[in-house]
Amino acid sequence: MVTRRKGAPGAQSNEGALKGPPVRVIVIHGPNLNLLGQREPEIYGRTGLSDINRGLKELGRDLEMTVETFQSNGEGEIVEKIQKARGKADVILINPGAYTHTSIAIRDALTAVAIPVVEVHLSNVYRREPFRHRSTIAGIAAGRIMGFGAESYYLALRAARGIVMEAREEHV
Ligand code: DQA
Repeated sequence: MVTRRKGAPGAQSNEGALKGPPVRVIVIHGPNLNLLGQREPEIYGRTGLSDINRGLKELGRDLEMTVETFQSNGEGEIVEKIQKARGKADVILINPGAYTHTSIAIRDALTAVAIPVVEVHLSNVYRREPFRHRSTIAGIAAGRIMGFGAESYYLALRAARGIVMEAREEHV
């Protein structure tokens, strides 16, 4: 299926030219997100993960960003991926899935590598069960985007670019 990104045209004039090399982003998808498209579509939508990843790479090209994507159902694997991001990513975009609500290990790994983080969710967790209202990541994320289905990821990618651009401007 083709994934022309809804509401996500290419670079817009307000997104300004990038100072310096392309922004390197690692996108991390947590457990059960490999089932997107089949899993509770009334909550998570009908777009599959490979379509989202393709859309992110496409948008990344328009915005002078390199986008690497990774999915794992395992907490330890996610921690390892974050540790290896040091020196390879300017910003991390993460949907930790259910680990959002439980994982101190993922939070600690993100803090350890000191790479800016954007937390993403397809659903608006505040409209759902109370156990989803807590996030171990929220307190260390630059920001959180949720509730827009697959579009949450594209909004988050634009936000991630803004964070890096701002940091580069501060360093001139
Ligand atoms: C989710 C929300 C989580 O509560 C849930 O466990 C997920 C997906 C989201 O993207 O809406 O797996 O992170």
